[in-house]
Amino acid sequence: MTRPRLLDLFCGAGGAAVGYHQAGFDIVGVDIELQPHYPFEFMLGDALEIVARMGPEFDAIHASPPCQAFTAYRRRGNEVGDGYPDLIEATREFVVDSGRPYVIENVPGSPLRNHIQLCGTSFGLDVRRHRWFESNIAMLAPPCNHNQPRRFPQATNRENMRRTVEIGVWRIPLDVQQQAMGIDWMTLPELTEAIPPAFTEYIGTQLLAYLEAAA
Ligand SMILES: C[S@@+](CC[C@H](N)C(=O)[O-])C[C@H]1O[C@@H](n2cnc3c(N)ncnc32)[C@H](O)[C@@H]1O
Repeated sequence: MTRPRLLDLFCGAGGAAVGYHQAGFDIVGVDIELQPHYPFEFMLGDALEIVARMGPEFDAIHASPPCQAFTAYRRRGNEVGDGYPDLIEATREFVVDSGRPYVIENVPGSPLRNHIQLCGTSFGLDVRRHRWFESNIAMLAPPCNHNQPRRFPQATNRENMRRTVEIGVWRIPLDVQQQAMGIDWMTLPELTEAIPPAFTEYIGTQLLAYLEAAA
């Protein structure tokens, strides 16, 4: 049986991609920057231009548009959006136009619609990483599990232990951060931008069930 094909927009080094592959999809990734560690077929280019041209050739579409407008900028107390490209609205228009089941992923606080939230702790990972997912199919989400034992050192010199591993911190060994995310092929900057594959394996299983029911 042929595997369904998923177009992975704004693919980075492939955190989302590997989860969808584990769920049972064949993957083609698209990024505006070269991604030498991306583990599947890769296309260099603008995500919106490529989905407009090729989206209908795929069975499902995932998009992780850049989220800087809703993280660092917000923490500095500014209004969302000024000076940063907001690709979320544009991405939604293009993926809806494709007519395919879609998933858009972003950080908490971003302007997603009817999102579910996933957390690393829901999947037994040592990472407290919340991400939102919008879709045009109904999705379930498991609850967080924030009460893990305190067993990880801080990135600073503080003595109390943490329940989860901080990601994107130079003072914590890369392999510890990789293990916490369930990713062993990325550099630290790539890991910082990624989502754990466990998130999209969970979502991909629901997408596959939808595609099978619709067939
Ligand atoms: C948050 S990262 C994606 C992380 C990835 N989903 C993962 O789990 O590993 C966003 C990516 O969008 C890419 N990007 C930004 N603008 C783009 C565009 N117009 N077209 C395609 N990719 C773009 C960036 O180069 C970056 O790699």
